[in-house]
Amino acid sequence: MTIRIAPSILSADFGRLEAEIAEASTADFIHVDVMDNHFVPNLTFGFPVVKRLAAASEVPFDLHLMIEDADKWAPLYAEIGVASCTFHWEAAKNPLQVARDIRSTGARAAVAIKPGTPAAAVFELLTEVDMVLVMTVEPGFGGQSFMRDMLPKLGLLKAAAAEAGTDLWLEVDGGISIDTANEAVLAGADTLVAGSSVFGQRDRAAAIAALRAAVR
Ligand code: DX5
Ligand code: ZN
Repeated sequence: MTIRIAPSILSADFGRLEAEIAEASTADFIHVDVMDNHFVPNLTFGFPVVKRLAAASEVPFDLHLMIEDADKWAPLYAEIGVASCTFHWEAAKNPLQVARDIRSTGARAAVAIKPGTPAAAVFELLTEVDMVLVMTVEPGFGGQSFMRDMLPKLGLLKAAAAEAGTDLWLEVDGGISIDTANEAVLAGADTLVAGSSVFGQRDRAAAIAALRAAVR
């Protein structure tokens, strides 16, 4: 199985984001963390910045919305032309409708769950989304420790997706490094977000290659 690597620009230099993204051009996706200081206690960038960056990037965007009112915002972000748009189950009033609205834009729809949310919360959505993102840290900040007790959620989601007969990608986000990546893959992840372990390194291409080697 090919494992997809999505470096998170949360750990990049915000003063030169376009150049930072170009340095990670060997990645499968660029993971873009939108935070609103309400859903999470941190603030990054908003709609106009993401739109501009997506237009300038050769690598498709894997958008991770950590914002309230996902019902309103997720479809608008999806329309920018991103490959994938992830909203938080905890931030949506009608998750099923949000997933459908994202898909109607042509983007892949994905739903994320915080550490405190059980996998079963999104079982009813598995035929309506293309990916589930299992958070392996509390969302909000890069550089936190990997919560390996979240890994059983991946097996539960994989089994539920097989039962529903749907092809689902499973993404993990938080604390992924060359030391933890393979554990996540063995537990069922196929898409790995990596912030500090890519943008915290001087040579981003080498960091991406090291992650690929770690899961081979
Ligand atoms: C945290 C973000 C992550 C973050 C991961 O809320 O969703 O994408 O960038 O950072 P690392 O890989 O450093 O844990
Ligand atoms: Zn993220």
